[in-house]
Amino acid sequence: MNEKLIRALKGKNSEGPPIWLMRQAGRYMPEYRAIRGKHSFLEMCRNRELITQITKLPIEVFDFDAAIIFSDILLILETFGVGLRFEEGLGPILEKPIHTPLDIAHLQARDLDQHIQPTLEAISILRKELKVPLIGFCGAPFTVASYLIEGKTSRDLKKTKQWMMREPDSFHKLLQILTSLSIQYLKKQIEAGAQAIQIFDSWASVLSTSQFHTYSLAYMQKIMDALAPTTVPVILFCRGSSVFAEQLASISPAGISLDWNGDIGLIRQKIPQSVALQGNLDPDILYAKPSTIKQEVQCMLNKMRQDPAYIFNLGHGISPDTPTDAVKLLVDIVKNNVMG
Ligand code: CP3
Repeated sequence: MNEKLIRALKGKNSEGPPIWLMRQAGRYMPEYRAIRGKHSFLEMCRNRELITQITKLPIEVFDFDAAIIFSDILLILETFGVGLRFEEGLGPILEKPIHTPLDIAHLQARDLDQHIQPTLEAISILRKELKVPLIGFCGAPFTVASYLIEGKTSRDLKKTKQWMMREPDSFHKLLQILTSLSIQYLKKQIEAGAQAIQIFDSWASVLSTSQFHTYSLAYMQKIMDALAPTTVPVILFCRGSSVFAEQLASISPAGISLDWNGDIGLIRQKIPQSVALQGNLDPDILYAKPSTIKQEVQCMLNKMRQDPAYIFNLGHGISPDTPTDAVKLLVDIVKNNVMG
């Protein structure tokens, strides 16, 4: 069993950093594209065998030190009957986004168990088959709320922020509904066998420091508090995490996943050693020539390789057009040049 990720999350890894990548099972892999050619993304997320197969793909091909369950942060929105679909080139679309605070009264999560059953079954199967830890996940209530309101990916989250500023009480109600649903979902993932949890707050970067505290961090804390009895480590990812790192650390997660804007070495000086640091490499570095990739990765390893609470990852998900040779090179440098 390779337990490096779990050891790093406990601040006790002395073997060189574990490596996994956000979106590691995705379109940059020809094996993924071959399966995707035959099924829609949602079909894949709803099929136990495909979830199991796709989750294992990047471990088999690249030898990553952790697996993340193949799913999406928006799938739980299907329990509200909002008509979720994913469109080529556009991303997620909700047929029935919510428009007014009155719509919140009609938000009833239905048949959660039925919706998440294939995911949970795949988690139990993977737990028996994998030799690396399995990460479960959910979206942070703020980010999931933004999709529920915008109905699609939006650059500025105008509608979401207008609602937040005009009707803070109903916005809090919405965040609470999503928090309760996420807690139920994560508890079930843990029961099924997830060994670590990551919460994704991709759109936190549109918030000010005080807005982040009130509308994002407070709800991630509720999720962490509810999961505390399970003792499963929780990693918090935000776009904006280099700015919010100290706020994130204040609620004592097992780890923080950093975007690429700040310097991980300098951030480490402000974050207690009891909180693991993950990420921080700009995903676009993987477009560079091999010598540049080597230089950038070595630079990161020089800062962090002695740190017993460090996990190698990118600052955001890997891009669909990343060359697989660059990923192979990355893994090779991290795994073999640790003392380089
Ligand atoms: O990391 C993993 O490999 C696990 C699976 C995973 C996916 N999405 C699979 C996916 C995870 C953890 C996510 C998280 C997710 N999904 C986030 C948070 C992290 C981030 O990237 O900011 C968000 C905001 C979403 C919502 C989402 N899903 C968008 C905006 C899109 C469209 C953009 C895109 O990349 O296509 C998706 C689709 C999606 N989620 C794909 C995958 C593999 C591509 C589906 C396809 O094959 O067409």
